Amino acid sequence: LKFVCYSNDGIDEHMVWLIGLKNIFARQLPNMPKEYIVRLLMDRSHKSMMVIRHNLVVGGITYRPYISQKFGEIAFCAITADEQVKGYGTRLMNHLKQHARDVDGLTHFLTYADNNAVGYFIKQGFTKEIKLEKDRWHGYIKDYDGGILMECRIDQKLPYTDLST
Ligand code: ACO
Repeated sequence: LKFVCYSNDGIDEHMVWLIGLKNIFARQLPNMPKEYIVRLLMDRSHKSMMVIRHNLVVGGITYRPYISQKFGEIAFCAITADEQVKGYGTRLMNHLKQHARDVDGLTHFLTYADNNAVGYFIKQGFTKEIKLEKDRWHGYIKDYDGGILMECRIDQKLPYTDLST
């Protein structure tokens, strides 16, 4: 099992995983238009943290780091159907937090969570209360009707991936 983070970099192996992740998102996020999923996944300002097992993608999180604002917007998050509720979603989020802090220099994540995923995001430390100053994110992330805006502060010292391995 490994956790990798790539954007559309043209490397064959990465592209195969990104396309696998696109298929998981298309199935698990039926309200999202497929063209929109493909557009963000293949957009070079987005990155995807993926869980890989036996060289196949099991799930992932696609996000856009706003480096100057020090926050990231999570666009899509899903684990393939037969691997849900086994802890992959939690480990994925921990790897994402570690990467976003240590590589991107981020302090927060924001996401529009689907109603049925609010419980998952709360378990990952997200809140419906937005404490990030509005001028750091307003105008950067787009309003989206179908979800609830949630925030997570990334701890600057916690060894996120040692906790979950
Ligand atoms: N509602 C409430 N709690 C949940 C949910 C949920 N939908 N999904 C998982 N949990 C809980 C689990 O019970 C577990 O609790 P525990 O630690 O007390 O046992 C905890 O959250 C973590 O569970 P994991 O096994 O780590 O989560 P999983 O691997 O299933 O991944 C995920 C969670 C990504 C939500 C997955 O179930 C999934 O792909 N769901 C369908 C797609 C989806 O809803 N994605 C999010 C949409 S919002 C967005 O993309 C911005």
